[in-house]
Amino acid sequence: MTDKIRTLTGITTTGTPHLGNYVGAIRPAIEASRRDDVESFYFLADYHALIKCEDPARIAQSRLEIAATWLALGLDTDRAFFYRQSDIPEIPELTWLLTCVTAKGLLNRAHAYKAAVDRNLADNEDGDAGVSAGLFMYPVLMAADILIFNALRVPVGRDQVQHIEMARDIGQRFNHLYGDAYRAVTKSKDDPFVLPEAVTDDNVATLPGLDGRKMSKSYNNTIPLWLPAKEMKKAILGIVTDSRAPGEAKDPEGSNLFAIYQAFASPAETSAMRQAFADGIAWGEAKQRLFERLEAELGDARERYETLIARPDEIEDRLLAGAAKARERSAPLLAALRETVGLGSVRALSVARMADSAADSAQESPPQWKRYRESDGKFYFRLVDGQGETLLQSGGFDDPQQVGAIIGELGSLGSQATGLSGDRFSSPHFQQVGDIARIHQALVALNRLDEEKKAKKAAKQP
Ligand code: TRP
Repeated sequence: MTDKIRTLTGITTTGTPHLGNYVGAIRPAIEASRRDDVESFYFLADYHALIKCEDPARIAQSRLEIAATWLALGLDTDRAFFYRQSDIPEIPELTWLLTCVTAKGLLNRAHAYKAAVDRNLADNEDGDAGVSAGLFMYPVLMAADILIFNALRVPVGRDQVQHIEMARDIGQRFNHLYGDAYRAVTKSKDDPFVLPEAVTDDNVATLPGLDGRKMSKSYNNTIPLWLPAKEMKKAILGIVTDSRAPGEAKDPEGSNLFAIYQAFASPAETSAMRQAFADGIAWGEAKQRLFERLEAELGDARERYETLIARPDEIEDRLLAGAAKARERSAPLLAALRETVGLGSVRALSVARMADSAADSAQESPPQWKRYRESDGKFYFRLVDGQGETLLQSGGFDDPQQVGAIIGELGSLGSQATGLSGDRFSSPHFQQVGDIARIHQALVALNRLDEEKKAKKAAKQP
C-alpha cells in the first residue's frame, strides 16, 4: 500500500497544553509529520481521559484546546491523520477482541496498576481499592489504538514504554492465534498486526518548570502554552532563579531559565545567552530575552489559536473529517478481523463456500439467463440453474432493452463477495424469486465464466 513509516501517538485530553508538552511532544510531532517518508497518526485519546478524569467539562474543554493547539501550530491535516479516539468505533471493538487474547497476568504487571495496588497495600487497604477496571484495562485500549492502524513507530515518554511493549505482546499473541485464519480471510501473506516499537527521543530534553523540577501538571509548575502576552511575561518572571545580583556571573548549567531558553533558541542564540550569563546578565534581563524568544516562536500561532478556539464548529468539522479519513483504514481492517475470529456475516460465509462449489458445478452445466417473448407481446427473462430449475422469474417488459439492462445489473452482483439481499428483488419486475443464496451462487458462477472467457480472449491477443 505504502512504504512510508507509520508513526502514531495519542494525547490524553485531561489538561491544558503547556510549554513542556509543546517542546517534548507537539513540536517534534508536527515536524515529523512534514517528512515525506513518514505517515503520521495523531489523535486525542479521549477514551483514555475518562480513566483519569470524571469531570465532563474538563474533558470537553481539554479536547477543544488540544485540537486547536495542534491545528494552530500548523499540523497539516491533509498529510497527517488527526482525529479523536472516540470517533473511531473500531478502536473499542478491537479492544474487546484484544481483551480476549490478553493474559490477565500481563495486565497485573502494568506499572500504573501495580503502583495503585502498592499504594493501597502500603495504606493497609484492599489492593484494588478505588482501582477501576478502566485503569486495569488501560494497556489494552492503548494496544488497540496502535494496532488498528498498524503503526510501526510510537513516540512516547519513558513512562509509556511498557505500554508499547504490552501492545507488542498482545499483537503478537493475536497474530499467533489468528494469523492463519486472517490470511485465509484476506488471501494475503500478512499477519493481522504490525508489531509496534516505542520511540523515545533522548535529544528532546524534558523542560523544567517554574521551580526547576520537570514541567508537569502534577507539580503545578507549568507555563501554559497560550497565555496572552502580558500573562506570559508574568509567568516568566515567576521562574525561580538564584539570588545572584546583576553583574555577577551566572551558571547556565543549573539554571532552569537557561534550559527553557535553550529549548526555544537556535544554537547561536544559546551560545550568546551562555556568554551573557558569564558576563553577569541581570535575571530580569534574561527573563525579558526568554519572553521575546517565546513571542517570536509562538506569537503568530497564538493568534491562530485564539481565532480557532472561538470557532468550535470549524474544529469539530476538521476532527470529523479526520475521523472519516482514519476510518478508511480502520473499518476494513476491523471487518477482516471480525471475520477472522468468526464474527463475520453468516451470509458471506456461505457465499465463500458457494463460490467454490459454484466453480465446480459451473464446469458441468452452467446456470443460464433465458430471454423470451410471451403471447402478450411482452419481454421476459428467467435465471435457471444447471439442472434447468428456475431461480428467478421476471415480469413482462415492453422494451427488450430494459431486460438487457436488468440482466446486466444483476450479473454485476456476481462479482461481489458480500451476500445478496432479498430486497434487491422486491420490485414488481420480478414475479417469482427463489432462494436468494442460490441466486447469488448462480450469479457468482456466471461471473466466473465471464471472467474466464475474458481472460482467454485477452491471452489470445498478440
Ligand atoms: N497513554 C498515553 C499517555 O498518557 C496516551 C496514549 C493513548 C497513547 N493511546 C496511545 C500514546 C497510543 C501512544 C500510542 O501519554
